[in-house]
Amino acid sequence: MAAEQSFDVYRLPEEHEAIREAVREVCTAKVAPNAAEADETGEFPKASHDALRAADFHAPHIPVEYGGAGADALATAIVIEEVARACASSSLIPAVNKLGTMPLLLAGSEELKRKYLTPVAAGDAMFSYCLSEPEAGSDAASMTTRAVRDGDHWVLNGVKRWITNAGVSEYYTVFAVTDPSARSRGISAFVVEKSDAGVSFGAPEKKLGVKGSPTREVYLDNVRIPADRMIGAEGTGFGTAMQTLDHTRVTIAAQAVGIAQGALDYAKGYVQERKQFGKAVAEFQGVQFMLADMGMKLEAARQLTYAAAGKSERGDADLTYFGAAAKCFASDAAMEITTDAVQLLGGYGYTRDYPVERMMRDAKITQIYEGTNQVQRIVMARQLLKG
Ligand code: CAA
Repeated sequence: MAAEQSFDVYRLPEEHEAIREAVREVCTAKVAPNAAEADETGEFPKASHDALRAADFHAPHIPVEYGGAGADALATAIVIEEVARACASSSLIPAVNKLGTMPLLLAGSEELKRKYLTPVAAGDAMFSYCLSEPEAGSDAASMTTRAVRDGDHWVLNGVKRWITNAGVSEYYTVFAVTDPSARSRGISAFVVEKSDAGVSFGAPEKKLGVKGSPTREVYLDNVRIPADRMIGAEGTGFGTAMQTLDHTRVTIAAQAVGIAQGALDYAKGYVQERKQFGKAVAEFQGVQFMLADMGMKLEAARQLTYAAAGKSERGDADLTYFGAAAKCFASDAAMEITTDAVQLLGGYGYTRDYPVERMMRDAKITQIYEGTNQVQRIVMARQLLKG
């Protein structure tokens, strides 16, 4: 390998660093200022959404041929990381737009992609992902939402739970049972529109964190949709759902890294300002060791996340393992780092006058959604043991 090439080994491309700078600028000016209010009121941060949309960071992963920015998986992760550093709720705009549309990108017909990806790229619509149900969380294949064929249509009935951005999103990827005798091989994926007759939403969940991103149930009551809204072939929905999560667990890892970075940055500033015993608390070795551990864990999480993003972009065979590992490691690290950030601020950290308690609450969900970290360990162990 030529010497000049080898200098670039294992370094983020300049283009990606430039994306980080651009997102940070937008988020510092127009997203971070709304974060506390979104948390306090539990309202969707529309001003943050509009700022992300104006800068084309609301769904950066959509390919150029559908009017999108065409960001690769690493660039998309960096966008999500930087938005999460400012406001975790807002980072669910690009993250869930990717989650909702990934089934289409992986398995959708050209017509479906053109019809539904274009408005998402333009920022005119958001896209959510409906897999979980009240009795089917970690055991996703035990879902009972049913789709029954009726001529040129499918009729859907069931309840989907924990749907991020439900009600705000215009479009939904819905997984439903088309053959109850076939378990995971009898599940198919569909695009459902908010405006389809029979679609309605539950009350917003009262959550610990990411309060600015609505989480609601989606009710499907005899929702009759054209047959061409099926994503991929009948019976392939579960595989598409799992493949989607392989890619998007990387984005949750990025979100966790961003939340943790926000907490570390804040705590770093605080300990240099705060004086006790006649000196800045940053001068105490106990505090320094805490900061060092936080920084070390964060960087390890970031490197694993970026490695997984590379695998997502290339579609490497070990993406399933890396997506689970990155999500699990980064979210556990984010929980530790944000908790330590609260500790470093002492009593102040425990109040809503400072942002770190919000970051700690926001970090918690990254250990739970897109598969609990226990499920990630199942996925990793199965991958390790399979060959
Ligand atoms: N890629 C492709 N296919 C896959 C796959 C993958 N990564 N993982 C599994 N499959 C296929 C299998 O090959 C198998 O296919 P065949 O029958 O043809 O062989 C089929 O799917 C069933 O696989 P398993 O037997 O492994 O399935 P399982 O029932 O044991 O479940 C599981 C495995 C990993 C526990 C899975 O159910 C899972 O990931 N659960 C967690 C669900 C989850 O992450 N939910 C999050 C919801 S989204 C969310 O949180 C969004 C939000 O709004 C924020």
